Amino acid sequence: MEYGKVAGIDKPVSRIVFGGDRLRTRRVSQLPARRRERRALELLDRAIELGCNAFDTARVYGDSERTLGAWIRRRRIRDEVVVISKGCHPDGAGYSRLAAQHVSADLHASLKALGTDYIDLYLLHYDDPAARIEAVLERLNRHVEAGEIAAIGASNWSHQRIAAANAAALSRGWKPLRASSVQFSLADWTRPPWPGAVTLGGDSEHSARQWYAESDLPVFAWSSLARGFFSQPMSEWAATYFGTETNNRRRERARDFAHDNHITVAQVALAYVLSHPLRVFAVVGCTTEQKLADDIGAMSVKLDEQTLHWLSTGQR
Ligand SMILES: NC(=O)c1ccc[n+]([C@@H]2O[C@H](COP(=O)([O-])OP(=O)(O)OC[C@H]3O[C@@H](n4cnc5c(N)ncnc54)[C@H](OP(=O)(O)O)[C@@H]3O)[C@@H](O)[C@H]2O)c1
Repeated sequence: MEYGKVAGIDKPVSRIVFGGDRLRTRRVSQLPARRRERRALELLDRAIELGCNAFDTARVYGDSERTLGAWIRRRRIRDEVVVISKGCHPDGAGYSRLAAQHVSADLHASLKALGTDYIDLYLLHYDDPAARIEAVLERLNRHVEAGEIAAIGASNWSHQRIAAANAAALSRGWKPLRASSVQFSLADWTRPPWPGAVTLGGDSEHSARQWYAESDLPVFAWSSLARGFFSQPMSEWAATYFGTETNNRRRERARDFAHDNHITVAQVALAYVLSHPLRVFAVVGCTTEQKLADDIGAMSVKLDEQTLHWLSTGQR
């Protein structure tokens, strides 16, 4: 495993991040309660055994925070793990909840569900360009001062909004956003799967990728395996949001490369994200120990610039 650094967090952060949303997928959540809990604990144990110490969850991921927190307490490893959670998700009707009072309410609900007194990286789950970001940043900074959050960040924010928020933080002497979580994978989506979701993939995001390269802001790439587009059989969901001719050809090239190098297609797709010349952490979800080990094995696959270009475009 390789580890990276996120300003504000005084622990190494594994470059493969366990995707906590999968802890509530149908395959796991339909199991009887005891087996469900056991499956989750086995997966989490395997993750840490393999060197993955960072775990992504969110207020809106059902039971995920509670399950993760129970495991951390049972294993007594709070000081070793990096807990990433998110709040201020829009409400069920799609109305924005990006406001100071929601920051505090969601943070405290997450701390309670996790059974911990701090979160290592706390992300605002979605943006609302109409929201008063100064009030939100000020509130987040109060929670940092109180020791309830180590580092703050944003998920699904444009790079322009992150730059504006950090300029505002700088001018007021507040802690800035230290990381961003957006979608990024070898396959580009056809459209955002959820309103307001942000990707770094595709031609239209060239200037965003350039901004991240220049600013060196850590990127926590979610759905880094395009939510199953590289799996066999492919889910209907992945086919809907990633099923294009361009992506199919990318998957064919990933298959060829995997075959020639005796690795798996998923490892090629993850290595594409991890080898990208940005400060990337790959957030990946799975429900079996075998897939988890396979994903973590991708860390040792290094792709050079030419191979990255070929996988993406087919051009040598
Ligand atoms: N910030 C945000 O707005 C946001 C949005 C979406 C997701 N996320 C985070 O990102 C995490 C990962 O994203 P995701 O779960 O949407 O998608 P993902 O990690 O791109 O893909 C998950 C899919 O890939 C399959 N898979 C994983 N490893 C595999 C392997 N080695 N071989 C074959 N198939 C493999 C999984 O299989 P099985 O599950 O069937 O085993 C699952 O179907 C989530 O869990 C969540 O924590 C954040």
